[in-house]
Amino acid sequence: MSVFRHGLFKGKVALVTGGGTGIGKAITEELVTLGCKVVIASRKMDRLSKAVEELSPKESKVEAKVCNIRQENEVKNLISSIIKENGKLDFVVNNGGGQFLSSVSNMSTKGWNAVIDTNLNGTFHVCKEAYHQWMSSHGGAIVNITANMFRGMPMMAHSGAARAAVENLTKSLAVEWAQNGVRINIVAPGSIYSSTAKSHYGDHDLFGNSRPGIPAKRVGTPQEVSSAVCFLLSPGAAFISGATLRVDAGASLYSPQMYQIPEHKNLPAYEWKFKEDEEEKPKAKL
Ligand SMILES: NC(=O)c1ccc[n+]([C@@H]2O[C@H](COP(=O)([O-])OP(=O)(O)OC[C@H]3O[C@@H](n4cnc5c(N)ncnc54)[C@H](OP(=O)(O)O)[C@@H]3O)[C@@H](O)[C@H]2O)c1
Repeated sequence: MSVFRHGLFKGKVALVTGGGTGIGKAITEELVTLGCKVVIASRKMDRLSKAVEELSPKESKVEAKVCNIRQENEVKNLISSIIKENGKLDFVVNNGGGQFLSSVSNMSTKGWNAVIDTNLNGTFHVCKEAYHQWMSSHGGAIVNITANMFRGMPMMAHSGAARAAVENLTKSLAVEWAQNGVRINIVAPGSIYSSTAKSHYGDHDLFGNSRPGIPAKRVGTPQEVSSAVCFLLSPGAAFISGATLRVDAGASLYSPQMYQIPEHKNLPAYEWKFKEDEEEKPKAKL
């Protein structure tokens, strides 16, 4: 089960972009479990419908809408339809995004622009529309998902540049929109395994290769990102805005050349399943 109080988000309405798969799906699961109505939005209806089917077993609290966040008009329509149908929009989680592996020298301008367009401009479109259509007069909380780009992102420089820009955008908005009652923060995940994330990189074992550089000596779970997002959306984070919460077990701080961490299993994964009848996984010690 979620570590948060049952009913914490009762009566709230959230938009989670990319909420049909991986990290976004875990965020959707946890928000729904805590009583939130969640609209998930991305480009492919088949993925979204599958998630809606899985995440709404009893009551219909998850709804799917097709939207390419690169397209400003689609984002405008998405936000207006959410407000029209639900009467409000309390939370936005900008999770939809992606990238491909390439050195900068081999990157086409088209490929560069596509990643910037999704990961930076898409986040800008969603923040701006949520603000204009609802949050400027009602307040709200936004969480932007970025990545571990703090020491550069070789082979994903387009994504690193976009995420660093989102971090700076978030800081500016935290100041500009405070007077409207809007908080905006970042969750920067380290290496988080999901089948969809793995499938993007074909034969490259990104998750296996990243393990030695993670102090926990394991990759993270989508639920470990979700609980950070839920905290930042909650009243417990009422005095937090413009912050970046790294969910990477210290990977962004660790250099194996400077300090060797032996293999260990002392930071087990935090995972929980949506369906009540499934067994709970071991909990983290801390
Ligand atoms: N997994 C990791 O290790 C990791 C680490 C750091 C950051 N991240 C970031 O965390 C986010 C979630 O990743 P994930 O690991 O959960 O991978 P994922 O399952 O592939 O999730 C990406 C989601 O974004 C949606 N999306 C992509 N382009 C979009 C667009 N133009 N408009 C709307 N939605 C779009 C996808 O849905 P559609 O295909 O239906 O559009 C998909 O649901 C991504 O931004 C990712 O880059 C992941």
